[in-house]
Amino acid sequence: MSEQNELRDNQIPMNNGRNIPALGFGTLIPSLDDTRRATRTALEAGFRQFDCSERYRNEEAVGEAIKSVLQEGKVRREDLFIATKLWNNNHRPERVKPAFEASLRRLGLDYADLYLIHTPFAFQPGDEQDPRDQNGNVLYDHDVTLLDTWKALESLVDGGKCRAIGLSDITLEQLTPLYESARIKPAVVQVESHPYLPETELLNFCKEKGIVFLAFAPLGHGMKPGLFEDPVISAIAARVGKTPAQVLLAWAVQRGTALLTTPKNEAQARENFNISSLPADAMDEINRIQTRQRLNPVVSTGVPGFIPRPADRKGAAGS
Ligand SMILES: NC(=O)c1ccc[n+]([C@@H]2O[C@H](COP(=O)([O-])OP(=O)(O)OC[C@H]3O[C@@H](n4cnc5c(N)ncnc54)[C@H](OP(=O)(O)O)[C@@H]3O)[C@@H](O)[C@H]2O)c1
Repeated sequence: MSEQNELRDNQIPMNNGRNIPALGFGTLIPSLDDTRRATRTALEAGFRQFDCSERYRNEEAVGEAIKSVLQEGKVRREDLFIATKLWNNNHRPERVKPAFEASLRRLGLDYADLYLIHTPFAFQPGDEQDPRDQNGNVLYDHDVTLLDTWKALESLVDGGKCRAIGLSDITLEQLTPLYESARIKPAVVQVESHPYLPETELLNFCKEKGIVFLAFAPLGHGMKPGLFEDPVISAIAARVGKTPAQVLLAWAVQRGTALLTTPKNEAQARENFNISSLPADAMDEINRIQTRQRLNPVVSTGVPGFIPRPADRKGAAGS
């Protein structure tokens, strides 16, 4: 394998005996047309790992793009790794299987490679994804525990249509007891992570337990000003002849995480896929960055920033 391809072809072993491609494409995209276009472009650029969610309300569009590329014979289903996520209003155990099967149907899939609990917060059960009282406060559901929901995900694995299960937007404090009690241990944990939020303690726990750490917002959601302008990142980019985006994605893969990025056009998709190793001194410099910033508040409330519209992109945080 040439050095150029070293990182983009990385596969990380999961605890179910299968691999997850390190480089993933995230489908939190505002419009359905953009979703179809960007998903197809990502596939053509070489991305094989895809992250979806019922919350993104665009699983059909993702499914259509995937189906058209499969029908053209450009890739095979078994070459793809497709994940989707259970939203907060479906945490009651009896709602899990119907929600999972509805996601599969929308995506046009027979099985999912991974199903995640999108956040550890249960909302009032029902079809409303964002249930609120008359004062605008979120209606949480206190009659279901995370372990109750997890057991329903375990049953999905037993059922054979779901190959691996995991959690998202979870802290180490929430993950540890769940890990201890779980019959089927989480295969993947998806959380915000970038040089301003390295989540080193959580990453070390995941490495120790054989859980894949899947970083979202590796480019800091593309917010400006942000990671692209960080002097350490831009100096390394100039030194190694790569873009700041490529440096940030390489750092993530090289420290042993899988990642999710959302390139919006063909040039960004090629750029984000074409990453190669950073020298050890560059890794050290990035690891020494002291700035700390969490961009996505969902981890503390379960409430998404919002599903961004095009006009909201700068400064936007979705979930
Ligand atoms: N579990 C959760 O709660 C959660 C929360 C958020 C996201 N996610 C997942 O993570 C995925 C990744 O989203 P993200 O926002 O976190 O990803 P990201 O890669 O950090 O940021 C994506 C944004 O960066 C910009 N960008 C992408 N490639 C670029 C490049 N080469 N050069 C310059 N700008 C570039 C684009 O913005 P412009 O439009 O400005 O170009 C794009 O919208 C989502 O799609 C979703 O699947 C999960």
